[in-house]
Amino acid sequence: MHQTVKNYYGKVLQNSQDLKTNACTTDTKLPLHIRQALANVHETVLSRYYGCGLVAPEVLAGCKILDLGCGAGRDCYVLAQLVGEAGHVAGVDMTDEQLAIASQFLEYHQQQFGFKASNVAFYKGYIENLAENSFDVIISNCVINLSPDKESVLKQAYRLLKPGGEMYFADVYADRRISPELVDDPVLYGECLSGALYWQDFLTIAKQAGFIDPRLVSDRVIKIEQSEIKQKLANTNFYSATYRLFKLPELDSNCEDYGQAVIYNGAIPYNEEQFVLDKHHIIEAGKVFPVCGNTWRMLAETRFKPYFQFIGDFSKHYGAFQGCGITLPFAKDESEATAAACC
Ligand SMILES: C[S@@+](CC[C@H](N)C(=O)[O-])C[C@H]1O[C@@H](n2cnc3c(N)ncnc32)[C@H](O)[C@@H]1O
Repeated sequence: MHQTVKNYYGKVLQNSQDLKTNACTTDTKLPLHIRQALANVHETVLSRYYGCGLVAPEVLAGCKILDLGCGAGRDCYVLAQLVGEAGHVAGVDMTDEQLAIASQFLEYHQQQFGFKASNVAFYKGYIENLAENSFDVIISNCVINLSPDKESVLKQAYRLLKPGGEMYFADVYADRRISPELVDDPVLYGECLSGALYWQDFLTIAKQAGFIDPRLVSDRVIKIEQSEIKQKLANTNFYSATYRLFKLPELDSNCEDYGQAVIYNGAIPYNEEQFVLDKHHIIEAGKVFPVCGNTWRMLAETRFKPYFQFIGDFSKHYGAFQGCGITLPFAKDESEATAAACC
């Protein structure tokens, strides 16, 4: 499978116009600071972008970042500006042609950003097998679906993250398991479709890798327009989704209520009004926001800590956290309900 993918991204595709579907494209409305950062990226690098989401989490100044499957380096060069001169971005990819483009513009970007030395480096390698290192943040954009061993990729990411670090990545998911004959189709696979994980399988392997509570940040439906491809895929639906996975081994396997809350101070750059931890946690600045124990840890034991005030602790457990949609599965005591009604 590695060879098929190398051929697709090294030889078949010369730029994003050659894609046959819109799976490896990004239609997210980009925030102003990302558009400004993109304006500094060389057009040849931009023309070889095959990502399916925005992988620029908050609070990156000074961070050490790894990009799994960096391709021609677009995200690396955007993040290099967000981490600043004190930070560093490493990109890994297995395809020579992609790496050649990425590396060709190292000096161009260093000068464009006005940095004394480049804070970006590219390496040839397989994301299933990475050398010892440690990172604050690991990103990846439309790559893991292409890996024949997705479990190993997530295990590597967990190993390489510092405690409290996060993997923030966009990828393609399917609403069912994909049949082997579609997986063997080089175009469907290369287009980031038939290698996509069934979303429930993704959650299972992410948890097995150590990422106890995966958080969905954003998602969109991938509409397949090309009729021949549409026919082959029949009733399978595809989605592009961005998840954040924290390396926090003390997380509970479910959202638990310890009576805690947080208040966001509004000081995260470009996020002054609200902080979006994930699709279900949009935390308005200045407002008391009740949280489960896991959300608490995602804010208190990570680089987000300085931006929050924390109310409560873990000393008393109040059961399942209702805010996460989980309720007691057992029947209510009907006699009590009747007795109460009588009074
Ligand atoms: C869809 S492209 C995305 C590239 C880049 N992230 C972007 O947004 O433009 C997938 C990239 O992942 C790389 N890739 C796929 N599987 C890989 C693996 N197992 N190890 C290393 N690189 C891989 C390919 O070479 C290709 O450059």
